[in-house]
Amino acid sequence: MGPHMVKVLDLIRRYGERTALKGLNFEIAPGELFGLLGPNGAGKTTLINVLATLLKPTSGHVTIRSMDVVRQAKEIKHFIGIVPQEIALYSTLSARENLGFYGRMYGLQGLELRNRVDELLEMIKLSDRRNERVDKFSGGMKRRLNLAIGLVHRPTLLLLDEPMVGVDPQSRNHILENIQALKAEGMTMIYTTHYMEEAERLCDRVAIIDEGRLIALDSPQQLVEQMGDGLIHIGLRSVDPGLINTLRTLPRVREVQCLERDEPGEEGETVSENRITIRTDQVRQTLVEVIGICEQLEIRVGSLEVLEPNLNSVFLQLTGKRLRK
Ligand SMILES: Nc1ncnc2c1ncn2[C@@H]1O[C@H](COP(=O)(O)OP(=O)(O)O)[C@@H](O)[C@H]1O
Ligand SMILES: [Mg+2]
Repeated sequence: MGPHMVKVLDLIRRYGERTALKGLNFEIAPGELFGLLGPNGAGKTTLINVLATLLKPTSGHVTIRSMDVVRQAKEIKHFIGIVPQEIALYSTLSARENLGFYGRMYGLQGLELRNRVDELLEMIKLSDRRNERVDKFSGGMKRRLNLAIGLVHRPTLLLLDEPMVGVDPQSRNHILENIQALKAEGMTMIYTTHYMEEAERLCDRVAIIDEGRLIALDSPQQLVEQMGDGLIHIGLRSVDPGLINTLRTLPRVREVQCLERDEPGEEGETVSENRITIRTDQVRQTLVEVIGICEQLEIRVGSLEVLEPNLNSVFLQLTGKRLRK
């Protein structure tokens, strides 16, 4: 086994005239929880299906554990689990029967199969509903069962395609706990989502994809620090005219605005306060500089508020589009 769990080289995938993946390059290390973040239509499911050997690349090379997804698809199937975007369950069968069915497809049988099914039902907290028909389950319960099915043959790489869509908060927490437990066991996972909060919270690294192109790849912290534009609000009683000009010269600052607004004072009177809004590419660096400048100019700061950037602002900055459509 090579040093990479997944290696993608110049991957292009077309559907007729439409090019869904326009030349992707990246690698995933064993044990990594790798986020794939992008809006609807970005190409996430297409990429997952290529990795799952369900779709062939139009050109380029993709290997999993150094095996080629086209030439060694059969061997690879053994090592990968897929939790598809569209739930694939037999609605008239029970939870136990669904797991049993998929387990048999992977060659499990007898006691080994029964034990594995019990273990997975326990993991997804559906043991007490094991014998109920799946069509009585909530969306979240179906998603949890979908996850268990992807794990039935103990894969080393798990592909999760939008596992939180249509999931209630309780099931959502169950799934998050399951994913964190799998990560602790060393499972490599690719986690596809269009919710940036999830990607930011869970993933070691996040690939941001848009219109079939990889536009950024790094840890959520790095992405946000390098690219997210944040806001700093400063409340002041009076504004030194030199202050605004000085703030505008700071290297990472993009925009400085000053607004006057009325605030209730301590004795019920109305006092006017000036609010300076600084838009910056580097919140932390700018914050330190702003505090230094205020000290130097002996300006008394009434209030200071920092709105940290997040992956949504990174995405907005990279594409000019909002992540949520
Ligand atoms: N079977 C298909 N035939 C033709 N076009 C498709 C097919 N599947 C996906 N596409 C197109 O490929 C692009 C990427 O789709 P998809 O991979 O499903 O994106 P995502 O999962 O990020 O929403 C979209 O423009 C979509 O319309
Ligand atoms: Mg999709």
